[in-house]
Amino acid sequence: MEYTVKSGSPEKQRIGCVVVAVYNPRKLSPSAKILDKACDGMISNLIRRGELEGEIGQSLLLHNVENTLCDRILLVGCGKEKDISTSNYRKINSTMVSVLKNSGATEIASYLTEVPVKRRDITWKIRQSIEAIDAELYQFNQLKTDQKPPRRPLRKFIFSVSGRGQLMDGEVAVRNGMAVSTGIQLAKDLANLPGNVCTPSYLAKHAIAMEKQYPKVKTTVLEEKDMQKLGMGSLLSVSRGSRQDGKLLAIEYTGGDKKQAPIVFVGKGVTFDSGGISLKPGAAMDEMKFDMCGAASVLGTLSACAELQLPMNIVGIVPTVENMPDGLAIKPGDIVTSMSGQTIEILNTDAEGRLILCDALTYAAKYDPDVVIDIATLTGACVVALGAHPAGLLGNHNPLINDLLNAGQTSGDRCWELPLWDDYQEQLSSNFADIANIGGKGAGTITAACFLSRFTKKYHWAHLDIAGVAWSSGKQKGATGRPVSLLMQYILDRLEDSTSNK
Ligand code: BES
Ligand code: MN
Ligand code: ZN
Repeated sequence: MEYTVKSGSPEKQRIGCVVVAVYNPRKLSPSAKILDKACDGMISNLIRRGELEGEIGQSLLLHNVENTLCDRILLVGCGKEKDISTSNYRKINSTMVSVLKNSGATEIASYLTEVPVKRRDITWKIRQSIEAIDAELYQFNQLKTDQKPPRRPLRKFIFSVSGRGQLMDGEVAVRNGMAVSTGIQLAKDLANLPGNVCTPSYLAKHAIAMEKQYPKVKTTVLEEKDMQKLGMGSLLSVSRGSRQDGKLLAIEYTGGDKKQAPIVFVGKGVTFDSGGISLKPGAAMDEMKFDMCGAASVLGTLSACAELQLPMNIVGIVPTVENMPDGLAIKPGDIVTSMSGQTIEILNTDAEGRLILCDALTYAAKYDPDVVIDIATLTGACVVALGAHPAGLLGNHNPLINDLLNAGQTSGDRCWELPLWDDYQEQLSSNFADIANIGGKGAGTITAACFLSRFTKKYHWAHLDIAGVAWSSGKQKGATGRPVSLLMQYILDRLEDSTSNK
């Protein structure tokens, strides 16, 4: 999709469709009023006779309205003018696209940028609009043989800004919004691919391709023999159960000063999680191809940063394996030695995410990181605790936790903190090794984070459990691309802080 910004009056736009807001109850936005005046009150007449109340989700498409230059006008209900939340702003944009994609219009001028959202400026609105529009249009058809493109697809959105003063801000917002949105789509594509296509080697190929695509990206792929040398006995114990070789990908984006400590992201890349010998039940097991959504979000985020050529250093680490019950697979009761030297008693082979993350987190220390954030579809317990709305957030450094909570609020891709208290640590004690890989009954998301915390003592660290938010189930089954938007907001906020402190 092409996006631009422009300032100009709505009745003068020679274009496929002009989109304007109507508030509940039956109140025209400033641009709607201008159009209404041009056509001698035709719009207000329609509204008076009850065609549109202005509620969220409502819309009304008009054709060939007199004294305007556009082919169509789309009125979009935006709810109460004084009470438009960030999530409703996204819904308004989705409603717009769901109507337009079947309208025949290809070029659109949106005046929804004038809709007031508390504490949010034009930059925010443009970025949210782009994410919402692209999300509404996203399809994963790569593996369908019958791929008919729509006859007249949407091609271009022009966001209206008020005057020249906003043009520059608007253009920056478009650039950022498009990069973030492309990162989200990449994360979705990788995650939607089935386990027989998207294997650890596939992810490695993708990471190597990124190096070719972006000059400031350097990719290293550790093979099993390399990991053996580093002593990553925990990660390797998971990949033993599969015919696919496990890998560890390290993707370094160096946009800033070489000496600047990087932000390191670590993404769980289990390309299929059968549970291993502690086999999962059959129902919905196909969804375990999404167990690499953490990895996908790291790759999506790095691409967006490289696309924007941000002046920072960012590293993505992706431990990637398949969790299968082959003959050599780890068994409950097995004890392995992690790269950190700590021994782990594996009481459940289905708690494999933490087994691969712990070695990747130990490896992360070599970058002398500013902060480390891991992203993982780690526990079913997180879905029970928080459902599909926020990601679970735990960590060892309050400023980092607060930055992520704030970035979640701003982006709409939210997270919620759970307590990482020492009280929970004893649930992980083992009779036979330094630590057990499961924490027994109660607080499964927290005990999983407690396990990781034993490997992150050397740096500031946060953990995002995205088991509930990374994909949707049911009829609209598919990856959401979360939390790319959250991570990009965190990065852009950090960048803004560092430039304003100079
Ligand atoms: N990948 C799963 C977590 C998961 C489950 C994500 C359902 C999304 C939906 C993870 O590897 C796993 O199996 N975790 C176990 C841990 C348990 C054995 C302590 C779980 O949550 O049941
Ligand atoms: Mn598992
Ligand atoms: Zn898993």
